Amino acid sequence: MSDFEHVFEKPPEGAAADWTIPQDWTAYSAVEHQTWDTLYARQMKILPGRAAEVFMKGLSALDLNTGGIPDFAVMNPKLQALTGWTVVCVPGLVPDDVFFDHLANRRFPSGQFIRKPDQLDYLQEPDIFHDVFGHVPMLSDPDFADYMEAYGKGGQRAASLGMLQNLARLYWYTVEFGLMQEADGLRIYGAGIVSSATESVFSLEDPSPNRLGFELERVMRTLYRIDDFQQVYFVIDSIEALKGETLKDFGPIYDRLKGQSDIGIEQIQPYDRVITRGTQDYAHKGGRFAA
Ligand code: PHE
Ligand code: CO
Repeated sequence: MSDFEHVFEKPPEGAAADWTIPQDWTAYSAVEHQTWDTLYARQMKILPGRAAEVFMKGLSALDLNTGGIPDFAVMNPKLQALTGWTVVCVPGLVPDDVFFDHLANRRFPSGQFIRKPDQLDYLQEPDIFHDVFGHVPMLSDPDFADYMEAYGKGGQRAASLGMLQNLARLYWYTVEFGLMQEADGLRIYGAGIVSSATESVFSLEDPSPNRLGFELERVMRTLYRIDDFQQVYFVIDSIEALKGETLKDFGPIYDRLKGQSDIGIEQIQPYDRVITRGTQDYAHKGGRFAA
């Protein structure tokens, strides 16, 4: 996502004014295509029964397993036909206003590069596996597609009101790290989770994190971490419910938020709908930095 330090101030050499670059699909090496295949196969062992039904459905509708990194020229017409979204390539993280403008116009910016074979488990910058495998299946769902466009427009507004930090938390705890309650259990829909073999299991099965019912203003007050597994996940009832909550006018919400303090990542509030009260053991023992 866009909530990191930006490397560039203006589009780098070779990028267009909107920061897009050609995918240049024929330039990917055999090793890079192999990396996609390895990551894809690994997630397919983990995600059935863990990922939300809409995610799995989108994944198969888009046919992202034809051998190697998907060619956007082949993938985009399928996505376009489903929800009117397209995926464009960018060199890396882009400024917030550029990111929001793409979303508001149903274009999802994806990193062009893929992680190196020794980074299969963790990297901080979103690569094409995170962006395409993680995000694009959800964009084939009509309600989620609307939500993401609305988020882009809402981002432009939040920026003008100085409320970006609060809005970014909504993105983080839904688009990147969201869980959903389905009839037979909790499921993953967040891109940061579905694109990670380890967090796919941790987010649902580990006793460490809190899992709390989604509440819009609460989420917008909650801090988050970018360097390790989350210490709290928020659970929505459905994409329709999420859309219903977020399509309302955030003006009065932003006014209220201005007078309220942030909520720490492991804090549980008296009014929280607690689905799992986590032990926080993983984080307290040092997380992925543990000896
Ligand atoms: N409803 C929000 C507003 O009025 C916009 C928004 C929609 C933000 C969906 C995020 C997701 O600003
Ligand atoms: Co992402």
